[in-house]
Amino acid sequence: MGTRILVTGGTGYIGSHTVVELQNAGFDVVIIDNLSNSNKDVLDGIERITGIRPNFVEADCTDIVALRKLFQDYPGIKGIINFAASKAVGESVQKPLLYYRNNLNTLINLLELMPEFGVEGIVFSSSCTVYGEPDTNPVDESAPIKKATSPYGNTKQICEEIIQDAITAGNPYKSIILRYFNPVGAHPSAEIGELPNGVPQNLIPYLTQTAIGVRKELSVFGNDYNTPDGSCIRDFINVVDLAKAHVIAIKRMLENKDTDKVEIFNLGTGDGVSVLQLINTFEEATGVKVPHKIVGRREGDIEKVWADPVKANTVLGWKAEVPLADTMKSAWAWQLKLRERGIM
Ligand code: NAD
Ligand code: WQD
Repeated sequence: MGTRILVTGGTGYIGSHTVVELQNAGFDVVIIDNLSNSNKDVLDGIERITGIRPNFVEADCTDIVALRKLFQDYPGIKGIINFAASKAVGESVQKPLLYYRNNLNTLINLLELMPEFGVEGIVFSSSCTVYGEPDTNPVDESAPIKKATSPYGNTKQICEEIIQDAITAGNPYKSIILRYFNPVGAHPSAEIGELPNGVPQNLIPYLTQTAIGVRKELSVFGNDYNTPDGSCIRDFINVVDLAKAHVIAIKRMLENKDTDKVEIFNLGTGDGVSVLQLINTFEEATGVKVPHKIVGRREGDIEKVWADPVKANTVLGWKAEVPLADTMKSAWAWQLKLRERGIM
């Protein structure tokens, strides 16, 4: 049996892809998820891809009694990857306390239980949102942390500080904080992917739902930004590439005794791509048209942000590999699979 890893939020979008890569690399995975933003069928998808059904506990990470029981029932967990969080930026403005409670208490419970059960390290899902509107691009890890523009973003900043403080205080564990840029696409098998709840707020699920006819038209939020074509620029990172970085991070954190107790890495491609370029890439890659119109700016949007991934490239030895056109094809294949299954 391989090293045992707890993956919180492991039936979610990024979590499920990471569980696949962990199992492919020989790890013994235990998932905890409260299914607040995912469903159990994801386990079938993971099993179809890897041939292994991960251990699954349906419970809430804010429930410390349930978490303690999990550590007792699954002894020997060596590392944690903490994906479990609420992540909708707009909803976090409406329901800030829900976001602070869920995202902070989840992390605090895990950090409190780690020494008790001998867990040696935690990988934490952070976000490029901590950089706000950066002064320059690409953004490296030393760029200033800007005041968060949403409670969601603030939870990521506070969680990073909680980890730093807990380790500075002498707690016997390590952490790797991963700042994702814009994760997109799906597993090439189309067995797992992103399952947005209700009307998607993020670009790719809205785009693929428009392409398949569930939505009439994609609104492009603004073409008057200070960018070559006027639309916003992001760093779209393939979700399988992203998942693979977690396997490298877990190995580094647990196996390499000489690394710093807290390390931070940007995970992005290093390429800035505009919203209009992305629509174009999707249309060319799939041959499917995306009806779209330009509308006003969305409040709170960052004009342009893309990663300087050199630290992850050199220190982790990880690099984004999947071309954007292939990522778009995978997002479309997943949308078609959802249609086939009668979900969307
Ligand atoms: P997701 O919603 O698909 O996955 C999160 C999973 O956690 C869901 O399955 C949900 O049911 C579960 N969950 C939430 N609260 C829980 C709790 N208290 N106990 C147990 N399970 C709980 O989201 P995702 O896109 O896979 O994001 C994973 C992580 O990456 C999150 O921490 C998110 O903030 C972070 N992140 C995501 C993005 C992105 O654009 N998707 C970008 C940067 C960072
Ligand atoms: C991308 C671009 C929109 C929808 C969010 C969070 C961030 C991180 C990633 C977690 C923007 C434009 C979108 C649409 C559009 N998540 N757009 N029409 O805003 O970069 O980041 O997800 O940490 O914290 O804020 O992602 O996919 O919402 O938008 O024109 O219908 O697409 O204006 O420029 P964003 P997104």
